[in-house]
Amino acid sequence: MVGNTFGIICHGGAGVLRDPEAAAAGLGEALRASYALLRQSGAAVDAVVEAVRVMEDNPLFNCGTGSAPTYDGRTEMDAAVMTQTGEFGGVLAISRVRNPVLVARKVMTETDHHLLAGEGAVGFARKCGFEDHDPMTEGARERLARLLAAGESPFFSLEKVRKYGTVGAVAIDRRGRLAVATSTGGITGRLAGRVGDSGIPGAGTWAAPSGAVSCTGHGEAILRLMLARDIADRMKTMPASVAMTLALAEARRRKFEVGAVGMDARAGFAFGHTTPDMSYGYMIAERLFLFTDGKDRKKAT
Ligand code: GLY
Repeated sequence: MVGNTFGIICHGGAGVLRDPEAAAAGLGEALRASYALLRQSGAAVDAVVEAVRVMEDNPLFNCGTGSAPTYDGRTEMDAAVMTQTGEFGGVLAISRVRNPVLVARKVMTETDHHLLAGEGAVGFARKCGFEDHDPMTEGARERLARLLAAGESPFFSLEKVRKYGTVGAVAIDRRGRLAVATSTGGITGRLAGRVGDSGIPGAGTWAAPSGAVSCTGHGEAILRLMLARDIADRMKTMPASVAMTLALAEARRRKFEVGAVGMDARAGFAFGHTTPDMSYGYMIAERLFLFTDGKDRKKAT
């Protein structure tokens, strides 16, 4: 680790960006809020949870308020938090809470379990004091209505995946500790009860002494690759950027639509995607960088 270096990298989802400027603005807000915690000697885990919480409250992103509905119109969300020492908490298919990432953190800190799902996760959230909240927005409802009107089946296609993204953050603090958090509303029109990669350790979310990674994109593909763990494992012997490139080359070879951000133990950042677009950004040494990558779009800061 580079002495006293701290920083954070976030993504706002891979896919096709509907509004790149708004995505960049939302990422900037999340990065500034979380970087402020790191500057005040906050822990990496506090920073990643704060970054994701801010994005969950922004209806632009597919997580928390604004999450993608299931085929039958429910909101079921997945989220996870992990530290480099192996502490992990996640919620799967949780409904009616404002911030799944905060519930995931409580699973990590207040229970002996790693994952809570469905009604059990909601019950746990209520016991922890998280109030009832309907994350459904008019925009999410309209997107589902359009799919249903087009006669789509609940067995979603990649075309749908491309439209919406997940959020995630990876940070390193002044003490060289790494942490990651990821949160998603899933994929519009999926079957109720479907769980993606974001809440599953090793798939969408992974942290280890070598590095930490948060993924986005087609959850089933990420699960098959165990992508976050694959990238972090590669960081044991190579810098984050090389680890990312090699792992995504394998995803591309298999025609998987995925994206990821990560960081190694030396505070080396990495990001990449096989999807048409991905929004992401990072903040280090008081400088903020924002990107909305796309094959027809130049990087924007
Ligand atoms: N990557 C989020 C999901 O597929 O649910």
